[in-house]
Amino acid sequence: MSHSRCKTAILISGSGSNLQSFIDQVASGSIDLDICTVFSNNARAFGLERAKKAGIPTSCVDHTAFDSREAFDRATAAELDPYEPELLILAGFMRILSPWFVRHYEGRILNIHPALLPLYPGLNTHQRAIDAGDAQHGTTVHFVTEELDGGPCILQGRLAIRRGETAEQLNRRIQAIEHQIYPKAAQLVADGEITFRDGRAFRDGQPLTEPLLIDFPD
Ligand code: GRF
Repeated sequence: MSHSRCKTAILISGSGSNLQSFIDQVASGSIDLDICTVFSNNARAFGLERAKKAGIPTSCVDHTAFDSREAFDRATAAELDPYEPELLILAGFMRILSPWFVRHYEGRILNIHPALLPLYPGLNTHQRAIDAGDAQHGTTVHFVTEELDGGPCILQGRLAIRRGETAEQLNRRIQAIEHQIYPKAAQLVADGEITFRDGRAFRDGQPLTEPLLIDFPD
């Protein structure tokens, strides 16, 4: 990917505040991506309304109608592939992807996980960071591989946990960071500055041993 207007599909399950950030940043010219479609596994996801309002084609497939992950994922790909997406953005897409799906779009799927990976893969990341007494917390954009929350990291946003801060308060601050770093990371991949090969991330052709990091001051 080394041209502008990279065809980008965004996959959501819920509110879609990250999706909204992509929509807004495309509209303002901060990023240069073509959001060709928005997909959801949940017909009631508010993000679908956001997409429709922005004039982006949407589709929805209910995962509960399938008896295997792969069957659902193949139905998902059947919705996405007519748009020929070059990049898939998981933005609160609450499904574990099958190996088939990951291979089908190898090196072209990004996710954002609300922790400083490799710390705290999985759920309840904010509470886990608070309970561990961590001084800092953050969020990570990474390539998706078959290992859950385990693909090579691209960009992290980091902040200091405030004394007495609740998981909900922390979540609000982390989400505000996500809205800034996720479109930025996607643009780096769309522009070919960050690439994926053999399970690793590269920046300008050199292995990216540590993710790029932005510290957000209090
Ligand atoms: C984000 O906080 C992200 O870290 C996680 O899911 C959440 C999605 O939120 N993967 P939204 O739907 O974009 O508001």
